[in-house]
Amino acid sequence: MKSMVRYSVHGPRPLQGEVAISGAKNSALKIMAAALMVPGEVVVERVPRITDVALMSEVLERLGARVDRDGDSLWIDSSGDLLDETPYELVTMMRASIQVLGPLLARLGRARVALPGGDAIGSRPIDLHLKGFERMGAKFVSEHGYVEGIAERLSGANVLLEFPSVGATENLVMAAATADGETTIENAAREPEIRDLAGFLNAAGARITGAGTPSIKIQGVTELRPVHHEIMPDRIEAGTFAIGAAATGGDVRLNGLRPEHIELPLQKLEEAGAEVRRHSDAVEVSMAGRPRAIDLVTLPFPGFPTDLQHPMMVLLAQAYGSSILTENVFEARFVFVDELARMGSSIKVEGHHAVIRGVEGLSGAPVEAPDIRAGAALVLAGLCARGETEVFDKGHIRRGYEDFDHKLRLLGADIEVSTV
Ligand code: UD1
Repeated sequence: MKSMVRYSVHGPRPLQGEVAISGAKNSALKIMAAALMVPGEVVVERVPRITDVALMSEVLERLGARVDRDGDSLWIDSSGDLLDETPYELVTMMRASIQVLGPLLARLGRARVALPGGDAIGSRPIDLHLKGFERMGAKFVSEHGYVEGIAERLSGANVLLEFPSVGATENLVMAAATADGETTIENAAREPEIRDLAGFLNAAGARITGAGTPSIKIQGVTELRPVHHEIMPDRIEAGTFAIGAAATGGDVRLNGLRPEHIELPLQKLEEAGAEVRRHSDAVEVSMAGRPRAIDLVTLPFPGFPTDLQHPMMVLLAQAYGSSILTENVFEARFVFVDELARMGSSIKVEGHHAVIRGVEGLSGAPVEAPDIRAGAALVLAGLCARGETEVFDKGHIRRGYEDFDHKLRLLGADIEVSTV
């Protein structure tokens, strides 16, 4: 049997103190993929030490790049010849590996990528990525679990996305950066990570405008050059700690983030009774007493992020009154509800809606982490609950959160981590 990490959490314990936010996972992974387009050495700073970054490093190395790490910095050298195929066993472990498709098509004119796996959070097809590449002249065949794309030369096109997919927007922005002529992406995703990726590519010589808006324009250039880039702060990690502070009735200062990236989660915390103080690159969150019930809908940015749905559910599970949480981005993200029920919560799921009847307090129980965000939320639930909570995790939390248990311990949490 594959080993598990056990987080043994004793609660209730309010989180108190200061925490430093790491670089963003969801930006680092895409910028690492984009480095494949630069025939030279790229330096990326503030890269979180998480398993997904290690997996993406392995993907790049298997493709022929050299990746070196020193502390928070990564050196990625893609000056040599690259292969066009990403290995099945890596892609199935992490959906973000699909982000090498655009860079490989752009640089080599061909790519063979295993169909993605990753989190068990509903059906996550890549049709929007492929349709966009097809408009740019690529042809695909899909067989034996792989998709194979060929494009002698990608050419600029007008792409209208059916849904503002983050991954599709990023893949297309990368492919268009060195395509012939101009590409426009309408109904593009507006997540801050897309602006970070465009900032990286522009520093390398690309000509991208409008990243962070629904309408992105990319004027293709012939070549990208080596660049030095610092990854933006992780807004999902920041949101997780902000919600954790409120859910545990604590008082935490988050340092090194951009408060505007989590504005809606902060407003929702205020609505639930938390006190929030915003600074230029820090936020203080505290909560006295039990939270109030609120309704919440997850939506693409700047809506409430689906990745913060689970921690918020932990907070609302203990609120005065009933809340309705509607998931609009992914299909099966409510699997976590069964785990939270073991801790005494009262939540009923109807399709995309969860009706959360707040209870006076949660009680510790053994639970299993179904994915990255739900895993972190279960640890937070353990901090709120009376007695011991054991969160059994196949490694999900470490895929996405740098030093999660260590940072929580610095905030006063009673957590022991062991391998079982
Ligand atoms: C990224 C984030 C993930 C976050 C999500 C939404 C990374 C590594 N992951 O995932 O943490 O939860 O954005 O903010 O950055 N879809 C299609 N066809 C496609 C692409 C997507 O139907 O070709 C659907 C998906 O099934 C899903 C929705 O669109 O229901 C959103 O997906 P998308 O925005 O692409 O998310 P990811 O980029 O996979």
